[in-house]
This record gives sequence, structure tokens and C-alpha cells, in this order.
Amino acid sequence: MRLLICGGAGFIGSHFARIRVREHGDEVIVLDKLTYAGRRENLRDIEGEPGFRFLHGAIEDREAVEEGIAAGGAGRPVDAIVNFAAETHVDRSITDPDAFVRTHCLGTNVLLEAALAHGLRHVQISTDEVYGSIESGTFTEDSPLAPSSPYSASKASADLLVRSYVHTHGLNASICRGSNNYGPNQYPEKLIPLMILNALHGDRLPVYGDGLQVRNWIYVTDFARAAGCVLEQGLPGEVYNAGGPDEEPNIEIVRRIVGQAGAGDELIEHVPDRLGHDRRYSLSSERVRALGWESRVRLEEGLAQTFSWYEENRWWWEPIRSGEYRRYYERQYGRALA
Ligand code: NAD
Ligand code: TYD
Repeated sequence: MRLLICGGAGFIGSHFARIRVREHGDEVIVLDKLTYAGRRENLRDIEGEPGFRFLHGAIEDREAVEEGIAAGGAGRPVDAIVNFAAETHVDRSITDPDAFVRTHCLGTNVLLEAALAHGLRHVQISTDEVYGSIESGTFTEDSPLAPSSPYSASKASADLLVRSYVHTHGLNASICRGSNNYGPNQYPEKLIPLMILNALHGDRLPVYGDGLQVRNWIYVTDFARAAGCVLEQGLPGEVYNAGGPDEEPNIEIVRRIVGQAGAGDELIEHVPDRLGHDRRYSLSSERVRALGWESRVRLEEGLAQTFSWYEENRWWWEPIRSGEYRRYYERQYGRALA
């Protein structure tokens, strides 16, 4: 296939691009705005592969999108757009929501218009957070949307735009909703890499509230493969949940990381809770399983691999820890950890 992968320099999009190039022999064009979370380094091992191209640009810029669609050359547009491009951190959406609305609502709409104009398939990468929080049981694709943060509300808005293009114009689009991803190359604002890097430095580990919030963890390559199944086999207008095999309270994740670092529990510090914090996420993935997908990596193995990756790849995170991230960290945690 010839794919335009939007947001392909980010955490999940770069794993998806690598799998498509290496395992499927796809021609891949990555279009990415390179926000603080987008990094060319995530793609450096596939930059030289035949059929790979990187374009710097935003999904809300129609010209950039058109360039991406045509970038395969030979006068033939790409076959499909896979949209990972997003602002992805809930805490930042609480303090600074504008970019979330711009990218998720306006940006997705530009992609849908372009897909319509060229007759392309569109796969929208979404999140379990659009369903809100669930105390017990699991969300299915038929669960009502009840997002609770500006992040999840703007992601849900993008999903509804996709739905409207299928309904109104018959666009060939599907949605893939993932649970919490973890693995190599995740920006250290997120729980698991933040705790790994802090533990490696002997820094305190800021757990929000009681730490008993539960997340449904999926290893990044498992989710990337689920997105691939949806791309290849998903029906137009259909939503596919892809949840991981393990659910765990945050405090248990942090304790596992403390153990892996050989540190002590005294590093753990309970700090004031996130505003509007969702208590639990849990996804049923029967529909994507029926397409032949299953998760391969359990939490214990995936967390050990992730920990080792951060230990061994200082070149990747050292420039992050000394740049924008340091200012963000001060703003987000400075007072709570003072
Ligand atoms: P990330 O923050 O690591 O990467 C996002 C990428 O999008 C970056 O490369 C960034 O530069 C790019 N981007 C942002 N705005 C853009 C714009 N306007 N135009 C073009 N590029 C832009 O995010 P991630 O964790 O890899 O998430 C990827 C997708 O998966 C997102 O849509 C997210 O909502 C979804 N998702 C993530 C998780 C998770 O746990 N990380 C779980 C479920 C779903
Ligand atoms: P996060 O990685 O931000 O993902 P999401 O909010 O999308 O689920 O957070 C995962 C969980 O970890 C969430 O319940 C919030 C919590 N958390 C902390 O307790 N401390 C932290 O410093 C961070 C970043 C998250």
C-alpha cells in the first residue's frame, strides 16, 4: 500500500510506520508538524528505506496534506490516510486546550475533505478516553461517548466528524480506539516513561491522588498492529477497540518501576490529583480480534523491555530532559514536589 501517516514522528505513529515499511513493504509518507512530541529521531532507522519520505507540515494545512497525498510520485495519490496526529497529554489539555481543538477538530476535518476529494481510505486513530470512566465492566464500541477532559472531548469530536463523513458522503473510513499505550519512544510526560526516568535519576515519583486509578495497558507494537488490521480489513463506518491484556492501578505500575530501578518506595510521593481525573478505563476488543488480531506482549514483559530501552537509549531522552520538558515539568510538578 501507499500510506500517508499523519503524526508518524510521534510515539505510536513511528512504530506503525516502521512495521508498515519493514513487515508489509508499504510506501510510507509521514506528515508531521514536529510539535514538542514529534521527533525525527523516532524514524531514523527507516529514513533511508526505499519508499519512505518525511514531510514537515500540519494536518490543518490543506496544502501540506495535498503534498503528502501526492508525494508517492508516479502521478498516483496514496491509497489511504492513517491519522495519528494529535496533542496527546491530558494534563496539557487542562492548562492549554487550544492546540487540542485545532489539531483534532480542524485538522481531522482537513484530512477528511482531502480523503473525500481523492477517494482515499481514512483510518482515524482514537482513544478509549472518548468513553469516559468506567467503575466496573468494559467499554464496547457501542458504549456512549462521555469524554471528561479537553483531550478526550476533542478526540471524540474528531471521531464524530469521521462518522459524519461516512454517513453523509459514504467515505471509506474506520476508527481504531486504543487503550493506554507504553513502550520505547514515548515522550516522558506520560506515566510510565516519566516514572522510569525519575527512578533512574533518584528523583521523586509524583503519583496523582491515591494512585488507585486503573489503566488498561497495551504494548505499542500490539496497538500498531491492531491499527494495521483496521486499515486492511476494517469496514467503513465501523469502530474497533484495541485494549491491552492487563489492567493495573497506577501505584502498582510505579512500584514495579521502583523495583526494576532497584530504588526504594520512599521515592513515591502522592501529589494533588488531576482535575476531573478518570478513575478507570477498560476496553473490550472482540471486534478487532475477529479480524485476526491479538495482543502478544503482557505487561510484565513489556514493562521490563521498556525499562531496558530507556536505560540503554540515553541519546534519545537526554535532549528532551534538558529542553522544553524541563520547563513543562517545573510548571506541572514544581509546586506539588516543593
Ligand atoms: P505523540 O504525542 O507521541 O505524537 C503525536 C504526533 O503528532 C507528534 O509527532 C506530533 O508532532 C504530531 N502532531 C501533533 N499535532 C499535529 C498536527 N497538527 N499536524 C501534524 N502532526 C501533528 O502521541 P502518541 O502517543 O503517539 O499518540 C498517537 C495517536 O494515538 C493520537 O491520536 C492519540 O490520541 C492516540 N492514542 C494514544 C494513546 C497513548 O496511550 N499514547 C492511546 C490511545 C490512542
Ligand atoms: P497518562 O500517562 O498521562 O495517561 P492518561 O491520562 O491518558 O491515562 O497517565 C496515566 C495515569 O497515570 C493517569 O491515571 C494519571 C496518572 N499519572 C500520575 O499519577 N502521575 C503522573 O505524573 C502522570 C503523568 C500520570
